[in-house]
Amino acid sequence: MPNRPKINLPKLSSKGMQEVVAVDLGTSKIKIIVTGKAGEITKTLITDNPLGYSVPTKATQIEPLANLLRDIFGQNKLPRTNLALAMPERHVSTQVISIPTLTDSELATSISWQAQQYIPIPTEELVLNYQVLYRPEKKDAATTDMRVLLAGIKQDDLNNLTAAYKQASLEPTVLETESIAALRHLPADLTNNASSLIINFGASGVDTIIVSGSELTMAMSHPTGSTMITKALMATFNLTYEKAEEYKMAYGIDTRYGEGKIAQAIVPILQNILGDIRNTITFYNNKNPVSAINKIFLSGGGALMPGFPELLAANLNIEIQPLDIFATLTGEIPENNQLIFGVAGGLTKRKG
Ligand SMILES: Nc1ncnc2c1ncn2[C@@H]1O[C@H](COP(=O)(O)OP(=O)(O)OP(=O)(O)O)[C@@H](O)[C@H]1O
Ligand SMILES: [Mg+2]
Repeated sequence: MPNRPKINLPKLSSKGMQEVVAVDLGTSKIKIIVTGKAGEITKTLITDNPLGYSVPTKATQIEPLANLLRDIFGQNKLPRTNLALAMPERHVSTQVISIPTLTDSELATSISWQAQQYIPIPTEELVLNYQVLYRPEKKDAATTDMRVLLAGIKQDDLNNLTAAYKQASLEPTVLETESIAALRHLPADLTNNASSLIINFGASGVDTIIVSGSELTMAMSHPTGSTMITKALMATFNLTYEKAEEYKMAYGIDTRYGEGKIAQAIVPILQNILGDIRNTITFYNNKNPVSAINKIFLSGGGALMPGFPELLAANLNIEIQPLDIFATLTGEIPENNQLIFGVAGGLTKRKG
């Protein structure tokens, strides 16, 4: 049974079963799930992020984010401690490396040198976490390599993000990467001789996460996201942002509406996204022909657009299904737009 990744970035303490506030701070929407002591959902929330960024990359962005968080937590009377946060994939370098098998202590002493070769963040700015995904048994002489998951982020990104929460008098205890959170929704019965792709379609980009069996092998982010679709509708039909969002959500690429003109304006952007997805699949399948991708799971608000799953199905010839985010969760489960809770739901399912 491969290890499911459970990486802390950085290692923050975790306090066992108690109320948890999972926060997925997206560039467009902030999604929050509160769970009680028994893990049951007591509240879910989707609210706008008017700032357009999710991680302050400049010091001047810390205070506006702190103010926004203070307002949201205050207005909704949310608990202020034990927050679980996710680092957006575009701010993370996720790599799975195969290296000759080492003991834990050998790995600990060589990991920062290993990271320099694989993570494109200079050592002095790097916050690194790692986890052994697979270590061959001693008796198994045929395989000599172990697999290690590396997740690196920039120290400044981490400092700025935690500073914003601190300024808002909030106490995060867990930070992990979005891909690791999303992975928890995969069905338990995935077999080792095939791979799956999770597509997290957000406002500012699309993340592609590949798992072989249930072990993470690749996570990448691509810069074309759902906001580009909104902008295309604004430009084509001279709409406000709000109206364009409404059109996108109501009609998407369903050609029965607006004489097909809405779909026409959206399709070029989806072609871009489709190109990114296709390239990812081809790249992976060429390197791993014996465990090619045979399933796609959808997540993220962008994937809710009418016609999107059908477009993927028509172009990729791979089985496509939504991630079942709430299958094993209890309590106040949202009835609509469940896919938008992929990351927050994954944070909620984290154990320990
Ligand atoms: N029902 C819907 N139909 C179509 N699009 C939708 C729907 N609901 C949300 N969206 C779009 O999905 C995006 C928000 O999704 P999500 O919350 O996953 O993104 P985000 O986390 O804010 O973005 P990112 O992760 O890129 O920072 C917005 O662009 C929004 O317009
Ligand atoms: Mg997101």
